Amino acid sequence: MAITVNEGKIFTINTKNTMYQMYVNEEGVLFHSYYGAKIGYSDLSYLSYKRNWIAAFSPNPRGKDYSHNQTKDELSVFGNGDFRLTALSLVNHDGTTACEPVYYSHQILNGKYSLEGLPAFYGDEGETLVITLKDKAYDIYFHMYYGVFSEYDLITKALVIENKTDKQIKLNKALSLTLDLSKGTYDIIHFHGAHARERMYERTRITHLKSTVSSNRGASSHLQNPFVIVCDKDANEEHGNAYGVGLVYSGNFVISAERDQYDLTRVVAGINPEGFEFTIEPNDSFTTPEVALVYSNEGFGKLSNCYHKAVRNNLCRGKFKNARRPVLINNWEGTYFDFNADKLVNMARDASKIGVELFVMDDGWFGHRDDDFTSLGDWFVNEEKLQGTLENLVKRINAEGLDFGIWFEPECISEDSVLYREHPDYCFKIPNRDPQMSRNQLVLDMSRKEVRDNIYNQMVKVLNSANITYVKWDFNRNLCDLYSVELPRERQGEIYHRYMLGVYELLERITSSFPDILFESCSGGGGRFDLGMLYYMPQVWTSDNSDAIDRLKIQYGTSFAYPVRTMGAHVSVCPNHGNARVTPLSTRGNVAYFGTYGLELDITKMTEEEKEEVKRQIVEFKQYYDLIQYGDYYRLLSPYTPDESRYCAWEVVKEDKSEALVCTVAYEAKCTVPPETLKVRGLDPDKFYRINGSSEAYLGGALMNGGFWLDYDHVSYASRLYHITQI
Ligand code: DGJ
Repeated sequence: MAITVNEGKIFTINTKNTMYQMYVNEEGVLFHSYYGAKIGYSDLSYLSYKRNWIAAFSPNPRGKDYSHNQTKDELSVFGNGDFRLTALSLVNHDGTTACEPVYYSHQILNGKYSLEGLPAFYGDEGETLVITLKDKAYDIYFHMYYGVFSEYDLITKALVIENKTDKQIKLNKALSLTLDLSKGTYDIIHFHGAHARERMYERTRITHLKSTVSSNRGASSHLQNPFVIVCDKDANEEHGNAYGVGLVYSGNFVISAERDQYDLTRVVAGINPEGFEFTIEPNDSFTTPEVALVYSNEGFGKLSNCYHKAVRNNLCRGKFKNARRPVLINNWEGTYFDFNADKLVNMARDASKIGVELFVMDDGWFGHRDDDFTSLGDWFVNEEKLQGTLENLVKRINAEGLDFGIWFEPECISEDSVLYREHPDYCFKIPNRDPQMSRNQLVLDMSRKEVRDNIYNQMVKVLNSANITYVKWDFNRNLCDLYSVELPRERQGEIYHRYMLGVYELLERITSSFPDILFESCSGGGGRFDLGMLYYMPQVWTSDNSDAIDRLKIQYGTSFAYPVRTMGAHVSVCPNHGNARVTPLSTRGNVAYFGTYGLELDITKMTEEEKEEVKRQIVEFKQYYDLIQYGDYYRLLSPYTPDESRYCAWEVVKEDKSEALVCTVAYEAKCTVPPETLKVRGLDPDKFYRINGSSEAYLGGALMNGGFWLDYDHVSYASRLYHITQI
């Protein structure tokens, strides 16, 4: 039993290695006491605040010996004298902003809770604690949900705010997390970026300035990821306290941390309050997105592995959660918009010969789309371009021995489209104003059922018309000029969130209607690579940047929260279309192995030698498939420290430690290079191993603490795989 309650006062959540404790004081206030290493059951309520200590200018409840400005509050609220970052700000029916949540009841439930209309971790092996607080004055209830997956040290949280008064209330801010940490000096690691440069690792000290990562783009975005690690100032891959904070949400978000006047660190996370307001009707409720926490006292490597396993087993769903995913070829970088059926079939024929299993027809097959100015919203086949029906094209591709996949951008609309001409009100536009264009397109108002139904019906028609086994769901702009024709004036602040709820509803409908289709999420590459999307689609096109060397940083950053199995990674041509870099084909393959591995090029233009190499890669990738996809993942050498090593390296280790695969990628070749050793991780220190079948035997402990010599290739960007097997 992971959850224990002591005399209705002390709530303790134990996972395999961690402990989270809360405490209800005499007035019923729920305080946070502790989150960290497991220390056995004990009463840590004394850590919630220092008794009889109230600093100047910190207001205190009358006659009480504490101030909310100094306590660890499990649900921090604006307006009660807590001047730090807070999670909740509401307006009562009478216009007051006061809110005093106190303990009302609690429940322990078998299995992990789910959230209506929102993505969330799931599983019967999970457990649930619900602590309900109630405002002292009004019938407003705060149901605090805690989900526990002991094995992965994962604790999830969500808040349901229920209005049982007979009047409307309004939320100005409704975050999912307040986390007050034990005293310490902490860093925050976050993953910033841009289109084609997603999830760049950055680490900064949490100071008395507020550190905030956020998005106000209507999508989690390329610029910031809704995942951070808060860690000891000297924590690293193997050592130190580290707290992961990941939002299971794909829209506007905020994660903020601050060190307060007394050097205590608080972290809050949830929906970005900018542009957010939500009215709750009487007898209705509002549910915040889920936040997923993992604590590790063994640094980031352990933390990542917990997320990886939890995401693979308890977030991703459907047939392809565990099934082997097909090796695909996507025609986007091969043809862009310039193709017809014969061209695609020729590509499929060549691809089939080297072992590719799935052909994906990307953008440009519908309406009259030959560029990005037209036809989004018109999800009917351009039979002229495809030289016949979709069914016929798919039959031809199938006859070449490949399955068939197709691209959609369901959330967007072109002004030049039948859909726009028939329903100009379907997209976001502010009356009497000219909307901002982005990639020449507008965004459909997915908060409206009628709009979702239209797109759903069009997609269903296409998906039923041929033997389609894969869908790429793209989204190529962010939201602005928000106005929804169906919402009254005072509810326009709900659009961003309602948009996301609408997208989730459509995704749920489509994915459950087509359980045999593999869905890959995409937003101009990795503009919506988050835990929310992974609930519906188990893999994501990681980035439009397919250059193997840029991908080192992109896949490295992505790996902190997201497993290899979720990262779409393809081999493309050189010079790379994005940055003109030339890299060996073997390196492009090795980097893509640590993802879903596929091709993104015009295979008919490859030389026989190149095709042979890719054929070899597909065989090799399949040989290592289970090890790579389900092994424990370790970042060995960071792509950010070229001065420390000439290599970037990562490793996967089979759970039973009998086998590992290391990938190294070198940077530019240089004169007079000193040889380097590489230390691996995760092996059994007392067992012997061989590397790439060599006759030499190495003790696991030696490989982990002393390392082994790397082979050097005098070629820029050369890459090697080292297969380590137990003897
Ligand atoms: C952006 C995606 O990331 C690309 O892979 C491709 O699908 C294009 N959109 C098509 O417009």
